[in-house]
Amino acid sequence: MRYENKITVVTGGSKGIGEGCVRVFADAGATVIFCARNVSEGKALETELNAKRPGSVLFIKCDVSKTAEIEQMINAVVAKFGRIDCLINNAGWHPPTRTIDQFSVQDFRDLLELNLVSIFAACKYALPHMRPVQGNIINMSSLVGTIAQPYATTYVATKGAITSFTKALAIDEAAHDVRVNCVSPGNVFTPLWQAGIDASPDPVLTRSYGDNAQLMGRMGTIEEAGKLCLFIASEATFTTGVDHYLSGGAELAYGHKSRKGEAGPSW
Ligand SMILES: NC(=O)c1ccc[n+]([C@@H]2O[C@H](COP(=O)([O-])OP(=O)(O)OC[C@H]3O[C@@H](n4cnc5c(N)ncnc54)[C@H](O)[C@@H]3O)[C@@H](O)[C@H]2O)c1
Repeated sequence: MRYENKITVVTGGSKGIGEGCVRVFADAGATVIFCARNVSEGKALETELNAKRPGSVLFIKCDVSKTAEIEQMINAVVAKFGRIDCLINNAGWHPPTRTIDQFSVQDFRDLLELNLVSIFAACKYALPHMRPVQGNIINMSSLVGTIAQPYATTYVATKGAITSFTKALAIDEAAHDVRVNCVSPGNVFTPLWQAGIDASPDPVLTRSYGDNAQLMGRMGTIEEAGKLCLFIASEATFTTGVDHYLSGGAELAYGHKSRKGEAGPSW
């Protein structure tokens, strides 16, 4: 049991990378509280994992784009468990690809609220309950926050900001022995990725593009994402302010990058 009895909070834990974290941390002995907007998906995962180890997980409905709901969730966790050892800020969304002409200013504001302001708020409310136990925070950023991506100006900006915020918070919280790191996935196969495949004009080609963006010729799994987070939380105790790539080597070497003559996103 690598993380026994540690109180771990995962946002967006009902599916995708968040689900991978919930499963891996629960298997490691943690008590995992996770949130999502969809109650039936959250309850289904809660029931499945509690059947394996009673009391190992607790689902709380919370929309992280609403600050008051984040505060209520953190308060509920502290009222029941008294502390937070690990906070994984995972909930986020990648909108369909668009040029800057096609995004509205309000689109950008809404994505900032969901992907970035929610993380600031969760850290702010959780930290008073993490400092006494020298807990750690893991923010889900993205490789594209560093290397960028075509037709994704709004998303890339939110993820770059998450990485920078992580480093700034790591500096301040070192005084309290709270570590703050981020994980930057490249391509991890999740329902979000499947939605992109389904929306594309050639789903087989899109899946192949996703797999072959990595040196390893495949996308990562949600379990691999959970395992990296568990390593950071439980064993990487001399690690703070670090952007941990989970990328299968996607950022290495030249690729076919010129977009000259292209009209805009095809999906
Ligand atoms: N999958 C990838 O390849 C990839 C790559 C880089 C970064 N990421 C990041 O990883 C995180 C998870 O992505 P994913 O692919 O697993 O996505 P996903 O859509 O498959 O799952 C997202 C999870 O977040 C929850 N969620 C979404 N909006 C929410 C809200 N307003 N309030 C509460 N919960 C909400 C969903 O219920 C779900 O549990 C995101 O922050 C994403 O930007 C993913």
